Amino acid sequence: MFDITHYLTEEHRECDELYAEAERFVNAKKWDEVEKVFERFREETIRHFRKEEEILFPEFEGRTGILMGPTQVMRLEHAQAKELMDRMGKAIRERNREVFLSAGETFMILIQQHNMKEEQILYPMCDQHLDPAEIVEKMEKI
Ligand SMILES: [Fe+2]
Ligand SMILES: [Fe+2]
Repeated sequence: MFDITHYLTEEHRECDELYAEAERFVNAKKWDEVEKVFERFREETIRHFRKEEEILFPEFEGRTGILMGPTQVMRLEHAQAKELMDRMGKAIRERNREVFLSAGETFMILIQQHNMKEEQILYPMCDQHLDPAEIVEKMEKI
């Protein structure tokens, strides 16, 4: 069954893979490749956050009336993740492997916990309360 949970969980996996690829190139000191892969990783992650912030969260809040709950926590964590990606981007421009890996590790801990909460709690609640096909179609346009 193709629902919100499967659609967005698949994007989490894709972003994880792009990050892992960027990290491999950092360790190999292939900075030109790092720049390309990191940019794709950053773009895909931000597009995913936008699908949640512009479509999914408002739909969930509108339907359930839960405004100050999980969606607020998720928005806050997106902001933290974006700050860490900025730090990683700066480290790449400065060719600083240590700073990249340190920010990357913090990012991965944050995002793994974030994704787990979405995949196990928030997305299933969204599938339950919303029309999955309609929401996925809207998110596809972002
Ligand atoms: Fe999220
Ligand atoms: Fe997500």
